[in-house]
Amino acid sequence: MPSNTKPKTKGETPKIPRGMRDLMGDTFYAYQGLAERAAEIALYYGFTAIETPMLEAESLFTRAIGEATDIVDKEMYTLKTRGGDRLALRPEGTAPVMRAYFDNGLQTQPQPVMLYYSGPFFRHDSPQRGRYRQFYQFGLEIIGTGKSIAEAMIIKTFTLILGEVGLDNLHVEINSIGDKECRPAYRRELAAYYRKHHKNLCADCRERLKTNPLRLLDCKNPACQQIKQGAPTPVSYLCAACKKHFKEVLEYLETMGVTYEINHQLVRGLDYYSRTVFEIVDRAPGEDTPLALAGGGRYDYLARALGSRKDLPAVGGAIGLDRVLSAPGIKTINPRLIKKPKIFFIQLSFEAKLHSFEVIEILRRARVPIAQSLSKDSLSAQLGMAERLGVPYALILGQKEALEGTVILRNMSTRSQDTIKIDHLAENLKNLK
Ligand code: HAM
Repeated sequence: MPSNTKPKTKGETPKIPRGMRDLMGDTFYAYQGLAERAAEIALYYGFTAIETPMLEAESLFTRAIGEATDIVDKEMYTLKTRGGDRLALRPEGTAPVMRAYFDNGLQTQPQPVMLYYSGPFFRHDSPQRGRYRQFYQFGLEIIGTGKSIAEAMIIKTFTLILGEVGLDNLHVEINSIGDKECRPAYRRELAAYYRKHHKNLCADCRERLKTNPLRLLDCKNPACQQIKQGAPTPVSYLCAACKKHFKEVLEYLETMGVTYEINHQLVRGLDYYSRTVFEIVDRAPGEDTPLALAGGGRYDYLARALGSRKDLPAVGGAIGLDRVLSAPGIKTINPRLIKKPKIFFIQLSFEAKLHSFEVIEILRRARVPIAQSLSKDSLSAQLGMAERLGVPYALILGQKEALEGTVILRNMSTRSQDTIKIDHLAENLKNLK
């Protein structure tokens, strides 16, 4: 911008924060369409909606996700209110849903409780491909059952949703990280193995070894990959009950025709998981570093971590809507509510503008979406806009028409025009193609 046209403000014009985007037009509708279709599928599978606030107590996440995790240590947006409360912008949805389950007495309802949600989440991550600081998830949670069919239900529903946008290179990666019976022994073995390789580990892994050894398997640093390949795997340490549970989950997936791969190094970045963890990855041809489109798992101990006196078995997952919508070659879904304008409403003269609300209301009741320009006064300027927008019809209300109680309907491609009584407008609109 040349310096003489700069707005005269004190200091710099405020900019959108890094890693955040404005969603508009087709992009906005693509998000809305996908979230709507996902909700519809979830409803047919017996889930009901929940919406939790975007701000929660910071301690909800530190207790649920775990202190030595990237999300809590580095990525949470936190703030202190004027009253002195410490709040966080939600980095994920599972802990809030579990809080809401107790706050709203959902334990008194028939179990399990099956919930779906969608909306924005916030992580102060470094922005890069498929990684935003405000991103959108569609999540499912089944709370109150330890049965393996619940995992299968979540994964199957996700593959159906992803199938709706034509994603067919999907890989379900799955693993079991055991429960409180078998995980401690595995964690000890893993730490012992990594201690032997201490001097070759990256700085982050040295830290993980002290604070959260399971996260060692999450390391993406090239220096640690060979060590990781030789590490003991959680599956070989599963107790009999965990082994049986994992086998059942896999059997369900096979029966439902969901192809999967066991990824022995999948542990996921949140501490609340037990037993099953999974990610759904799109491996489009030519993509070398596939991004997880969805992730989740079982979290049988989360309720207790949040203060419940009993464990409450639960499982869930979330789809990253931004990643789905940026996957190459996806089919976008139009939302149900938003329709492309069928009519460009042209108002000529002050007299016409006075009557315009009456006409627009007739159109709304007839469910005919319109586009219009409130500021333009000339016919040619408004017809030009209608043409640019590719709207098939124009409805012209001039001074003469306003006084006579009529409007002119113009077919934009044939340029033929009809004068219609405003009282008969609704019936005439029924015949529009
Ligand atoms: P998550 O794996 O952290 O799990 O996130 C789920 C999905 O959200 C990811 O697979 C990814 O597609 C998307 N996602 C995560 N971070 C970003 C980001 N910075 N930018 C864009 N997309 C992102 C959870 O959040 C768990 N609450 C899932 C869950 C529900 N587990 C049990 N129930």
